[in-house]
Amino acid sequence: MRHEDQIQMVRRVMRHVEEGTTSYAPGVHRNPISAYTDPERFRREQETVFRKWPVLIGMSNLVAEPGDYVTEDIAGIPAIIVRDRQGKVRAFRNVCRHRGARLVEGEGCGLKMFSCPYHAWTYTLDGRLKGIPDAKSFDEVDRAEQGLFEMTAIEKYGLIFVQPEGEPVDIDEALGGMQRDLESYGFESFHPYRHLTIRRKFNWKLSPETFMEGYHLQYLHKDTVGPIFFSNLMPFDEFGRNSRLVVPRRRIMELKDRPEDDWKLIPETAIVYTFFPNVTFIMQAGHVEMWRSYPDGAPDRARVEVSVYTPQKVETEKAKAYYEKNIDLAIATVDEEDFPLSEGIQAGHMAAMQDHVTYGRNEPALIHYCTTMEAAIA
Ligand code: FES
Ligand SMILES: [Fe+2]
Repeated sequence: MRHEDQIQMVRRVMRHVEEGTTSYAPGVHRNPISAYTDPERFRREQETVFRKWPVLIGMSNLVAEPGDYVTEDIAGIPAIIVRDRQGKVRAFRNVCRHRGARLVEGEGCGLKMFSCPYHAWTYTLDGRLKGIPDAKSFDEVDRAEQGLFEMTAIEKYGLIFVQPEGEPVDIDEALGGMQRDLESYGFESFHPYRHLTIRRKFNWKLSPETFMEGYHLQYLHKDTVGPIFFSNLMPFDEFGRNSRLVVPRRRIMELKDRPEDDWKLIPETAIVYTFFPNVTFIMQAGHVEMWRSYPDGAPDRARVEVSVYTPQKVETEKAKAYYEKNIDLAIATVDEEDFPLSEGIQAGHMAAMQDHVTYGRNEPALIHYCTTMEAAIA
C-alpha cells in the first residue's frame, strides 16, 4: 500500500477505535445454504468462476528461472505452469496429446523439454510437439496441431494468474483497482518459503469466508491471536470482485504519539486481500500467506493450498526460527480453530439444519463475496 494510503488507513482505524465502529454494509444479508450444498450450484461455480477468470496461483518466483515448473489442479483442470526458455510464464493442460498421460507431477526446475513418462513424446517448454518415438506409426499426425493445450497465463505485479478457458479477461480490469496496493509491495522479489496442502470436509468457499470478518476474533481466537488484534473492527474496501480488509493490531494506537509521516501501517496490521474467487492473501510485515481454496470433487470437500512467501530468502537459522514461530501460530490458528469450526458449519448445512445463514452489517466482506459470487455464476 502506498505511504499516503497507509496514513489515511491508520486515521481510519483510529476513528473506528474512538467511535467503537467498523465498516458497515447497508443492510443485513441472507445467504441460502444451498450455496454450500447444492451439486448443481457446485458445478456452475467450477465451470464459471474457476475457468473463465484469472485465478491467482502464486508469486513470480514460484517459477523463477526458465525451466522451472509447478503443477496445479485448478478446480478439476490439471495444469502445468512453466517459465519457458524466453522467460515467459505459460500454462498448459497437464495432458499428453498422445494418450492423455500427465506430463509432469509436483514441481521441478531446470526442465529443457517435457517428456511424457508413458511413450516419451516430447514437447518444448512453449508447448510445441517435438518428438514422437517410432514417428512412422503416426505419419498422419500433423505435429503443428498436436501441441499442448495452452491456457492464458498472466504475470504482473510479481504475481502469476491462470485463466483455464474463455476469452482472456484483462488482468487490470479483473483486479478492479487493487493493483494500486499490489504494485507497491515489490512481490517480484519475494520468495516461496513454505507450502502445505490441507484437505477438509467443507465447501471451498468456507476457507476464504473464514478470513472475511474480525467479529469472531475475540471469541473463537481468545487464546491465540485474539488478544493481538482489535475485534469487530475492520476497514473494508471492494475492488471489483476482490476486496481488502485491514485487521489492526491493538498496538497501532501507539502511532498516535508519533508524527504522521513516520506512520507505517503494515507492521501494525494484517491486510487481508481476497482475490476472487478463491484466494485469501494476507500481507504482514515479514511475510505473505496465501490460502488458495479449491473445490475437491464435491460440494462439501475443499483442498486448501497454503503458501508462505517472504521478502528475502530465508537462509539463516535465526531467520528460520523467527518464521517458523510466526507462521506456525498463523497456520495453527486457522487449521486448529477456524477450519474445524467450518467443518461443523458444513455438517449442519448438509443436514439442512436451516435454510440460510445471516450476515450482519458488520460483515460487509462476506456480503460482497456472496453477492459477487451469485452474480458471477448467474
Ligand atoms: S501418453 Fe504421452 S507419449 Fe503416450
Ligand atoms: Fe479466524
